[in-house]
Amino acid sequence: MKEYQAIVTACKPLTANVQALTFDIGERAVVRPGQFLNISTGNEMNLLRRPIAICKAEGSEITVCFQIKGSGTASLAKAKRGDVLSVLLPLGNGFYASEREKKIALIGGGVGVFPMISCIRAYCEKKQVYSYIGFRNKDAVCMEEEIEKSTQYTIVTDDGSYGLHKNAVQAFADDFERNTPDVVFACGPTPMLKALQSFMAEKNIPCYLSLEERMGCGIGACLVCVCTLTGGEHARVCKDGPVFNAKEVLL
Ligand SMILES: Cc1cc2nc3c(=O)[nH]c(=O)nc-3n(C[C@H](O)[C@H](O)[C@H](O)COP(=O)(O)OP(=O)(O)OC[C@H]3O[C@@H](n4cnc5c(N)ncnc54)[C@H](O)[C@@H]3O)c2cc1C
Ligand code: FES
Repeated sequence: MKEYQAIVTACKPLTANVQALTFDIGERAVVRPGQFLNISTGNEMNLLRRPIAICKAEGSEITVCFQIKGSGTASLAKAKRGDVLSVLLPLGNGFYASEREKKIALIGGGVGVFPMISCIRAYCEKKQVYSYIGFRNKDAVCMEEEIEKSTQYTIVTDDGSYGLHKNAVQAFADDFERNTPDVVFACGPTPMLKALQSFMAEKNIPCYLSLEERMGCGIGACLVCVCTLTGGEHARVCKDGPVFNAKEVLL
């Protein structure tokens, strides 16, 4: 992990409230899928950096995509080409598929779609990637040109206004017998991860979930992001995660 003074090269809307921000860190970015970064918001009033998944890393350029939620992301959305932002990266453990795991199922919902894009990009040429991606509605659908790089993909919406009318876990479950994966990676809202955790509970297939917790330091020092493991121990989502084995974490 290193601190960079990153130079913004683009900041543009993907949907009404999701922004894609690209910046240059001045050297080749070496990151694993599912890792994240902690970025200053460009507004001194926001003392803490904000944690955001690394969506794309191409040479020295990194792209993150974020929903405008509160004051931090609202000010980040105003970044302009040439602005300098302080960024800590790469953070967290990320997803990892072993040599033996050739078929990967990716399940993403809401802003959890963005780390799934990094998995598609990392694995689409070497593995079979089956993606099940959920959005709220048609207006929220984005990055389809990246999702399409999967071996096979299913887009679903909560209201059926685009793709199939179901949620991403249902879509995965409906396809499970036909396309049984060797490993499952997921990121999304807690109810989605809980549903997946419960579906996978009796299956003898590894399943990894990327958690989203409120964060402070992002580097393991403040304990703001602690979660509980099934054995009763605590873990820091920023440092020990954000990716955890579904059988080992309490949601
Ligand atoms: C590992 C990780 C990866 C993430 N990846 C993405 C992503 O790719 N795209 C995306 O849109 N969002 C992502 N988030 C959520 C994003 O960090 C929050 O939406 C953002 O911090 C909200 O900041 P704010 O100032 O706009 O909101 P406010 O609610 O004003 O934030 C106040 C404080 O709470 C913290 N906070 C609030 N919500 C969250 C949250 N959900 N997670 C962590 N800290 C929070 C902020 O960092 C800030 O310190 C990720 C979160 C984590 C932990
Ligand atoms: S955010 Fe400080 S320990 Fe995780």
